[in-house]
Amino acid sequence: MPIWVMGTEERGRDTITTLNSSSRPGDWFWGFWPLVPIYPYARRQTLRQEIIPDTLWTFEQVQGIFYVVVPVRMTVVKLEAGGLLVYSPVAPTPECKRLLRELEAQHGEVKYIILPTISGLEHKVFVGPFARCFPNAQVYVAPQQWSFPIDLPLSWLGFPPERTEVLPPDSSKTPFADEFDYEILGPIDLGLRPFSEVAFFHKRSRSLLVTDTIVSIPEEPPEVVQLDPYPLLFHARDEARDRIEDSPQLRRKGWQRICLFALYFRASVLDTIPLLKAFLLASNAPERSKKAYFGIYPFKWKENWQQSFAALRKSNLLVAPILQTLILNRNSKETLNWAKRIGRWDFKRIVPCHFSAPITADWQQFREAFTFLEGKNSLPRADFEVMEQIDEILVRTRIVPPAR
Ligand SMILES: [Fe+2]
Repeated sequence: MPIWVMGTEERGRDTITTLNSSSRPGDWFWGFWPLVPIYPYARRQTLRQEIIPDTLWTFEQVQGIFYVVVPVRMTVVKLEAGGLLVYSPVAPTPECKRLLRELEAQHGEVKYIILPTISGLEHKVFVGPFARCFPNAQVYVAPQQWSFPIDLPLSWLGFPPERTEVLPPDSSKTPFADEFDYEILGPIDLGLRPFSEVAFFHKRSRSLLVTDTIVSIPEEPPEVVQLDPYPLLFHARDEARDRIEDSPQLRRKGWQRICLFALYFRASVLDTIPLLKAFLLASNAPERSKKAYFGIYPFKWKENWQQSFAALRKSNLLVAPILQTLILNRNSKETLNWAKRIGRWDFKRIVPCHFSAPITADWQQFREAFTFLEGKNSLPRADFEVMEQIDEILVRTRIVPPAR
């Protein structure tokens, strides 16, 4: 099997080496995709990146709905006594397993698997199947797990009961406490189900691992999203009759629009076309295959749409607007205290589960990202309009409690 070295690059202070091992679609197969039926369904390519030589790696795949595709990432850390800790597993496809077995051959087997969230179904769904591929690993999960629509025991979700434990509130009570500290955010009461996330600090490499709370938005599409650029090019069009064409400029344009979709649902710079009109316009589309959604393209971007994207990049770190408006503001005090507790760690890079990684950032920048809870926000208020409407409906119907 050929191993493709896709490149080495400087990113911040880190030098990243990227590997993608397989060109055979069978190696990308993920059979449990109907559990959370989102793009790319049964075929998931994996990109392994070495962030710190012989110490820390990321494994990236993509996920999305209606071609709004963003990276989803697991982080693997080498333990000093040998063996590996896996934070937030991705789909254990044959390719993903092989890339990880290569690390096991060099550094020892997977010893610990961490599920750091209770609400992120896009992370939770992989942990049971992943753990079954690594039968000697101990699984640790964030406290107060739940499932939807009904609460099921973790064993029903494929978690191995005999080797699954809940992360204790006191991080010094784990077998990896010498090398890692962690802080649990929440649970934050959202009415139907709570939100919680566990940030891990790897002491030796001074790396902070987070799941959904912090992101950094790159100007260019990440490599993993470019393995299949079709979603980028789909969203680079201005109207239904435009051809789907490929160029670096169009990939970038599609990516930046995808970011706006993923972070705001519908930013103020996006108009939607009524469905009936979109159906009529589809008759002029050059491609009307199922892959091209039968030519339906119900979006009209305003001329100034790039201003909204530029605002997302004003600061290096960002709390996703969805979390700002609908989740973390449900318990501002708890969130700010959690961010403060993380301040005792002297980290120099952050590795989140989505968008860019690694991010060169320290605690001050991390703390600054949460000042939206204290009334400071550099993002355009107009872009929050749709989420504020959703928030108002949810509060009015008492589905979620009000912000506090
Ligand atoms: Fe997530």
